[in-house]
Amino acid sequence: MNNKIIIANWKMNPATLEEAIQLAKESDVEGLVICPSFPFLEEVGKTIKKAKLGAQDLFWAPRGAYTGEVSAKELKNLGVEYVIIGHSERRQNLGETDEMIAKKIKSAVEEGLIPILCVGETREERDAGKTQEVVERELKIGLSLMGQWSNVKSQKLIVAYEPIWAIGTGTPDTPENMIAMAKFIRSQLSNVSRQMSDVKCQILYGGSVTGQNAEQFLSREEIDGALVGGASLKPEEIKNIVIR
Ligand code: PGA
Repeated sequence: MNNKIIIANWKMNPATLEEAIQLAKESDVEGLVICPSFPFLEEVGKTIKKAKLGAQDLFWAPRGAYTGEVSAKELKNLGVEYVIIGHSERRQNLGETDEMIAKKIKSAVEEGLIPILCVGETREERDAGKTQEVVERELKIGLSLMGQWSNVKSQKLIVAYEPIWAIGTGTPDTPENMIAMAKFIRSQLSNVSRQMSDVKCQILYGGSVTGQNAEQFLSREEIDGALVGGASLKPEEIKNIVIR
């Protein structure tokens, strides 16, 4: 059962290039997309043979006076195929808005990168019964510049549902809730644009996925894969998740 896609989000880890190369060598399996931090992209890309290369973010402009930013074209040139956009850590720590995320998604697909759009609610929002409202807004605005999917190079989209309270906490959501969210997300996508029906969309779960609990999510046909943070830094663990 290896038609699932697993995204390894290394975040700002490890600290050195040597460690990054080692980790890439040990994690190099089919079905995995490795997303190292920007300085390690090129060498990790050269190291992996079976896994694919992803980035953790990009900037929406193609070039210009944007200190510290990295464009879709620059990533593409390094062999990057996927890009995480709108991760909750960027939304929360850097004030990334749905409008900024929409521009990032547009620039990714125009360059032929497959965007991994992260959506999900906080604990307070979940407790207040606002999960669907939040996710609906994140999808609607995040994909709002994609009215003309037919004009773009990438016809693929990945949506990762990551409840914020489940990220890095050791407490994942339940597979049942994730299945309900996957259905909800699919139903929302068709509202975004008529062209959306031509777009291949995979829906992933993220938030405290480990080698122990991955099977509960990945054995379900409604869930197309997982976005893994902490556990992706341990090669044995990530291999257990990918090769089940
Ligand atoms: P986690 O991170 O697996 O460590 O919970 C997931 C994420 O941030 O995408």
